[in-house]
Amino acid sequence: MPKKVPAKKTSSKKEEPTETSKKVSVDLPKDPKKAEKEMRSLEEQVRHHQYLYYVKNSPEISDYDFDQMFKRLQAFEEAFPKLADPASPTLSVGSDLDKDFEKFSHKLPVLSLENTYNEEELMEWVQKTGQDELYSVEWKIDGASIMLYYENGILINGVTRGTGGIGDDVTENIRTIRSIPLRLSETVSIYLRGEVYMTFLEFDEFNEASEGRYANPRNLSSGSLKQKNSSDVAKRPLRIFTYDAFFPGSKAKFKTHQEVMKKAEDLKFPLPPDTKLLKGSEIPAAIKDFKKKKEKVGFPTDGLVIKLNDLSKRESLGYTSHSPRWARAYKFDALMKESKIVGIDYAVGRTGKITPRAQIEPISLAGTTVTFATLHNQDYIDELGVGIGATVRISKRGEIIPAVEEVVTPGKEVFKIPLRCPCCGTKTEKKQDSVDYFCPNTDCPDRVKNGIIFYCSRKQMDIEGLGEKQVEFLYDKKYIKDIADLYSLKSHKEKLMEEEGYGEKSVSIILNGIEESKKKDFRFVLSSLGLREIGPKVAELLTEHGYDTIDSIISAAKSPKKLESVLEIPGIGPSTIEAIQESFTDKRILSLIDRLKKAGLKMKADPIEKSDKQPFAGQTWCVSGSFENFQPRDKAMDLVVYYGGKKVGSISSKTTHLLAGPGAGSKLDKAEELGVQVVSEEEFIKILNQNGIQI
Ligand code: IVH
Repeated sequence: MPKKVPAKKTSSKKEEPTETSKKVSVDLPKDPKKAEKEMRSLEEQVRHHQYLYYVKNSPEISDYDFDQMFKRLQAFEEAFPKLADPASPTLSVGSDLDKDFEKFSHKLPVLSLENTYNEEELMEWVQKTGQDELYSVEWKIDGASIMLYYENGILINGVTRGTGGIGDDVTENIRTIRSIPLRLSETVSIYLRGEVYMTFLEFDEFNEASEGRYANPRNLSSGSLKQKNSSDVAKRPLRIFTYDAFFPGSKAKFKTHQEVMKKAEDLKFPLPPDTKLLKGSEIPAAIKDFKKKKEKVGFPTDGLVIKLNDLSKRESLGYTSHSPRWARAYKFDALMKESKIVGIDYAVGRTGKITPRAQIEPISLAGTTVTFATLHNQDYIDELGVGIGATVRISKRGEIIPAVEEVVTPGKEVFKIPLRCPCCGTKTEKKQDSVDYFCPNTDCPDRVKNGIIFYCSRKQMDIEGLGEKQVEFLYDKKYIKDIADLYSLKSHKEKLMEEEGYGEKSVSIILNGIEESKKKDFRFVLSSLGLREIGPKVAELLTEHGYDTIDSIISAAKSPKKLESVLEIPGIGPSTIEAIQESFTDKRILSLIDRLKKAGLKMKADPIEKSDKQPFAGQTWCVSGSFENFQPRDKAMDLVVYYGGKKVGSISSKTTHLLAGPGAGSKLDKAEELGVQVVSEEEFIKILNQNGIQI
């Protein structure tokens, strides 16, 4: 761990040369050849000392000497801009220009991990996966997930996880993280996954200097990546650990995760410390060791990640749509504590779902005071046989809300969810095949409020200043009755400022937040409407497959033929089609959309960054069978999309190509029947290579 954050090393800006930088700039050589030689050597030295300092934690020169070297390189770059390395380490000071983030389509699906909360659950998975296998047991770092894309040894893009398919391109911010190499010692192409984090020590220092504004290192890390001004990011003590890597087109075949990570380490990427390669039976003891060490590691962790080491075994286990079957997260805070149920209330969500909550005697659990716990639904209550007065065990699973897990003593009679909505009194309904009760009234105040809260929330339109409390207040005081009303709130500014707790400053934060939401991409607008089945994933699938404007979706909803083509999108099923048809022909929803459109919200998706090369432009590809170089095979389709093509899940007359491998089956028959061009893996790689694309 470095002794302190070398703020001087990085906070100097090009635009404001300090005395020292002015001094070093006077004796620069005039001859460009000489200058170039010295610049290359300075870059190399700066890179080397940054690595020693930020990755190895063992600096060899003083901060002062480093500063001199850094400023001399900056001075050179000012004097000879054409000779500046596009991946120069001086980029780590960031830029003062505000930048909106572009959308970036990930080159590989960025999956998440399935969680396990107790050893039993984890070991069951280990048994299923293979007792004799080796597993990598690593810290689960609690920071912000990031993908780094290097091409020919240069960092080209740093992208947030986003939806897993599309993220925000935060490259300029990423370049300011000094432990991330901007240029590698080899001209390899590599995609890395990692976690941007802060040490507790550096967080505390930074937070103190910021008057304690930040809640914890994780929030500050992820908030930092979304800063619009990269020179601000450069001032924050961000670090990275990388924990997965993929080498597109590399001839070297890696057999294990360990080999892959060794290569990443050789390329000077920081890896999490303490990683162990263990047999399944050794995992329980390792968990105990890691738990003991947790308080001492100095950076935030929220558990462990256990990954199968053998890469071919991984591929044969495969993936679900969200996570690999070859890895599990093991969360530490699966604590349970006893408490007593003192009452019950019900939350009516934006979809009308009624969730019973137990009010409990306050307990402290995993760092926070818990006063309520979910009881999920009537079936769950019946199963537990729980009533008021019961002593129960409560768990708090990581970020998930506290839940009643077990009953110690049952209490009075078992609860029954009321037959009428606890908010508006409408008769509740139970849908077929559902365990939940719903309030069917779309005007139910709790439903409407929760819909607006959802719209404003961080993950959706991210409207600053409008949390649960404020939305409830605005609704209850009749400032707003739906989301479109937010956009006329400014006309009530004066009146709002007279309300208690709504001073000029907080009102202007809210109004500014509302104004800023007009810049949010259509994908967010669409999924924030809170329509049944139309969440972020479906919004992304629709826009990715040509339904990238509200008008195109509305027009599809009206046309059975178009709806059929929507159904062809892999990942969209009949129930989504039904929901699209229902929502986008509903007069109330259409009028709401119309008002949002008039308010200036984006109703067309921002273009996704694509390669300059577009060899697949105008083509529609489908894939079937298995492939040696593309596992999972969607990797091949991701290349098609990145280089200009469209991917579909089934063969139709519109499909132009089928990429077919062994076991292609009925899709191959259909392709042949319709005269669709069938391409083998070898031919596909040839097409890529002919276009200068190395896999
Ligand atoms: S592996 C496909 N390893 O945990 C699996 N993830 O809950 C890739 N994380 O989104 C993830 N430390 O942001 C992996 N050593 C580690 C990790 C790690 C932290 C995060 C990561 C992921 C989340 C899943």
